[in-house]
Amino acid sequence: MSNQQFRDAMAHLPAGVAVISARLGDDYRGLTASSLVSISLDPPMVLAGLERDSATRAAVVETRAFNVSVLTRTQEFIADRFAGRAPSFDPLWRTLPHRLGANGIPLLEDCAAWLECRLVQVHEAGDHDICVGEVTAAAVGSGDPLILWDRTFWTLH
Ligand SMILES: Cc1cc2nc3c(=O)[nH]c(=O)nc-3n(C[C@H](O)[C@H](O)[C@H](O)COP(=O)(O)O)c2cc1C
Repeated sequence: MSNQQFRDAMAHLPAGVAVISARLGDDYRGLTASSLVSISLDPPMVLAGLERDSATRAAVVETRAFNVSVLTRTQEFIADRFAGRAPSFDPLWRTLPHRLGANGIPLLEDCAAWLECRLVQVHEAGDHDICVGEVTAAAVGSGDPLILWDRTFWTLH
């Protein structure tokens, strides 16, 4: 099997899109992620697959914490910016409305939902790390979700 066959098959699994954020001192970091999965109810836990060479992953592992901002259909441009696909003339966070969670890590405004997480486990998985977070806060916003399918962003309607 080629790597391309694997990518093509997985592109047909629809996924939600979130920004996973972390903070190292005054350095706010974040990446667009479609690998977020709810994994345990008691205690509440999620996992995210983070690229080994990602700056966000490094901050998550060092500080043992991360936040999740679930993107809406109007936030496609944010998904592109946090994936490094859109030109960014400013430091990413300066131009985007955000607030700090109780854990001090930024959360984007106007999202479909938010989570704050304490990193409890890290498992190596190929070129990614599976980062398991215990959810310490969760909230629901509004708006239709942004959905990734067949390498394109969609929404429900
Ligand atoms: C739709 C989409 C989904 C992505 N999902 C993930 C993901 O789940 N995990 C990951 O590590 N990178 C994912 N990426 C790639 C990262 O967003 C990208 O490599 C980012 O620039 C890393 O930023 P950083 O090095 O500043 O942390 C995704 C990109 C896109 C466009």
